[in-house]
Amino acid sequence: MEQQLEQLKQEALQKIETAASVKELNDVRVAYLGKKGPITDLLKGMGKLPAEERPKMGALVNVVRETVTTSLEEKMELLEQQAVNEKLEKETIDISLPGRPVKLGNHHPLTRVVEEIEDFFISMGYEVAEGPEVEQDYYNFEALNLPKGHPARDMQDSFYITEDVLLRTHTSPVQARTMAAKKGEPIKIICPGKVYRRDSDDATHSHQFTQIEGLVVGEDIRMSDLKGTLALFAKKMFGEEREIRLRPSFFPFTEPSVEMDISCFKCGGSGCNVCKKTGWIEILGAGMVHPNVLEMAGYDPSIFTGFAFGMGPERIAMLKYGVEDIRHFFTNDMRFLSQFNRTEV
Ligand code: DAH
Repeated sequence: MEQQLEQLKQEALQKIETAASVKELNDVRVAYLGKKGPITDLLKGMGKLPAEERPKMGALVNVVRETVTTSLEEKMELLEQQAVNEKLEKETIDISLPGRPVKLGNHHPLTRVVEEIEDFFISMGYEVAEGPEVEQDYYNFEALNLPKGHPARDMQDSFYITEDVLLRTHTSPVQARTMAAKKGEPIKIICPGKVYRRDSDDATHSHQFTQIEGLVVGEDIRMSDLKGTLALFAKKMFGEEREIRLRPSFFPFTEPSVEMDISCFKCGGSGCNVCKKTGWIEILGAGMVHPNVLEMAGYDPSIFTGFAFGMGPERIAMLKYGVEDIRHFFTNDMRFLSQFNRTEV
């Protein structure tokens, strides 16, 4: 019987050793220690032994049972630990994987151009003024020497809201508003902002676009001041070698009125596709503030004079960056906008 016991023990320990999972181990436990297992059988069979052998055999069976039990518990702990380790390994995060790139926003190309223009004029001592986009007919037209029925109103097809209120067609009403507010004080401002016209959208027209207005009013402000200012501006925006020329023009709020061209920055004046073979590119409208405009705003035209100018940043941006369609500025296609990610533009 002792031999039988030893063999059982060896067998059990062997199976415990080779058990590869918690389930297999449990099967071993049930097989050897369970109620119907061989060890229990042996204990049950003790009654048939002679009385003097029983204590010795009982102790032996117990030792075997404890050895198998301890071995089972140790193996169980090991298997459980292995299971935890495997799980941990599967769940590890690979910190060497590159992160997902975060897309950074950047300034819209138009914003860049407007800010560049603002910076130039601020460095010349100008202040930045703003006015409403929903404007009174009075400031948009009347105070700018464009009374009702004036034919030049047709030059700017307008979105009227009521008979007297419209979406401003240019930034020039900010001139009239600023003069009315300053009540006879000298003025040196630029006014950037959105303007609206009842135009059909195409490559060079948009029903909404941007303008930057300029106005200087003081004693003894002359046409030569306007010319010097615009020449410096042209060099700042389009390169040191730029020359300007002023052509006579007409605006109701300036007298005399001019249009300013710059020498072509692409061909230098010899003629190319950018300047349409003329060597010159039209950039803005300007002139000396009309005495009627000064007078309506409460400035005495015999003491005060002034100059004004108005330009379209879209046109300047299109020329500077070679953009062929004004609608690119408003459709927000990332393929267009992301070309201006570079910090130097
Ligand atoms: N307001 C004019 C326009 O929208 C542009 C302009 C021309 C503004 C001459 C001025 C100026 O201040 O002097 O067409």
